[in-house]
Amino acid sequence: MTITETYARLHPESARLYEKALRTFPSGVTHDIRYLTPFPIFIERAHGSRKWDADGNEHVDYVMGHGALFLGHAHPQITAAIVEQAWKGTHYGANHRLELEWGELVREIVPGAGAVCFTSSGTEATLMAARLARAYTGRDRLLKFDHHFHGWHDAVAGARAAESESPISPGVPAGVLANTVSLPQNDIAQVEQRLAEGDIAAVILEPTGASWGTLPLAAGFLADLREVTLRHHTVLIFDEVVTGFRVSPGGAQERYGVTPDLTTLAKILAGGLPGGAVAGNVDIVSMLEFRSDAAWNAQRRVAHPGTFNANPLSAAAGAAMLKMVRTGEHHTHADALNSRLVPALNDALRRAGVPGRVYGLASYFHILLGAGAPPPADGIEWPSRDGAPPARMASSLAGALKRGMLNHGVDLMSGSGGFTSGVHTDEDIGLTIDAFEATLGEMRAEGLV
Ligand SMILES: Cc1ncc(COP(=O)(O)O)c(C=O)c1O
Repeated sequence: MTITETYARLHPESARLYEKALRTFPSGVTHDIRYLTPFPIFIERAHGSRKWDADGNEHVDYVMGHGALFLGHAHPQITAAIVEQAWKGTHYGANHRLELEWGELVREIVPGAGAVCFTSSGTEATLMAARLARAYTGRDRLLKFDHHFHGWHDAVAGARAAESESPISPGVPAGVLANTVSLPQNDIAQVEQRLAEGDIAAVILEPTGASWGTLPLAAGFLADLREVTLRHHTVLIFDEVVTGFRVSPGGAQERYGVTPDLTTLAKILAGGLPGGAVAGNVDIVSMLEFRSDAAWNAQRRVAHPGTFNANPLSAAAGAAMLKMVRTGEHHTHADALNSRLVPALNDALRRAGVPGRVYGLASYFHILLGAGAPPPADGIEWPSRDGAPPARMASSLAGALKRGMLNHGVDLMSGSGGFTSGVHTDEDIGLTIDAFEATLGEMRAEGLV
C-alpha cells in the first residue's frame, strides 16, 4: 500500500468532511498552508503536544498553531485566563487593565520595546510598522529581502524590481510594488548602496533569516544592518512574528544583541488567540499620539484604528503566556528537545541513505529532502551561507512527507518543519524519530527519494 493509500484508509471521516468543505471554501481550506492533496485532516480536539483528528487518530503536533502555541494546546493557565475573562465580557470598547498588563509585559521582555501599539495580527503589525516608518521619515520605499515573509498586505507582497523573487500574489498594483525593493539577504554592500539613494523609509527582515530561518542569516548581518540603517537614517524593523518570545524570551534582538527601531510581534504574543503588536523606539511609535497641536493631529499623526486591538480575551491569553515566557525555563526545555530531535533526524537520513538535511534554531526545525539537498550536518544550526541558497523541498516531497508522518502519528508544518514547545516530551521526540525513519523507508520504496 502506498503512503497516499494508507493515508486515505486512516482518514475516511476527514475525506468526507473535505468533500463538504470544497463546497464552501476555495480548495476546501481557510489558510494556504493547510492545503494538502488528496485532502487535509480535520482536527477535533487538542491538548498539550497532541491533537486528535476526526477519525480518532492521535498526532504529536509540530504545527503548534503556526508557531503561536509555545506552551502547547489548551495550557491550563492560559485556558483559565481566557475562560475567566470570557465571563467578564469579550469587548469593552474601552481601556482595560489586562491590555495594560499585556503591554507592560512586552516592554519588560522585548529589549527594543520602548512603547507598544497593539494590532489584531502579524500582517496588521507589519502594515502599521511600514506606515509608521514612512510617516516618520517622509520617505515612501521599503527595503525587504528575497523570500522573507511579512504577512500578506500589499506593501510586503513583493517587489517589481526583484530578480530572485516574484510577488507572493497577483492583485497588487504595480505602483505599490514599485515602492518595495527586494534584495538578497546577507549582502550588506548592496543594501548600503541602495540606502545611499536616500529614498528608503525602512529595512524590514526576519531576523533569523527568510521564512523563519529556512535560509539562515550570515553571522554579523544584523549588526551590519543596524550600522548602515543608522548611518542612512532608515528605520530598521525586525519582524519577530515567529522569532519573538521564541528564540529567546526577548526574541532574536535579545539573542543576538542587536536592537531594531521597530519590532513586529504576533503568534506567541497573544497566547494562542489573535493579536499582534508593533513595539519600538518611543519617538517613532509616538507618531500615533494625539497632541494639542491641531495641525499635527490632522496632517502628521498616524491613525490607529482596529476593532479587536488588545481585546480582553487576547490580552488575557497573551498576558498569561508572557508571564510564563519571561522566565526562560520553557525555552530551555523546548530548545533541548529540538537539540535532540534535529541530530536524530539527520542520523535517520544518513542511515537511510536519503539525500537531505534537517536544521534549525532554538525550538524550530526545517527539513530538506531530495536531490540537490545538502548532506546531513552535525549540530542543529546551519551557519554557512556561502554559495546559492538551498532549494526549498519540492512540494510533492513535502506533501508525501506530511502524509507519511501523519500516517505514523506526527503532524509537521507544511511537511517540512515545525516547532517544539515547552510541553513536548521525550516520548514525543522518540515517536517522531521512529515515524521519520519509517516514512523515509516508505518514500524510498516508492522511489520518491
Ligand atoms: C515573519 C512573519 N511575519 C508576519 C506574519 C503574518 O502574521 P499573521 O499570520 O498573524 O498575519 C507571519 C505569519 O506567519 C510571519 O511568519
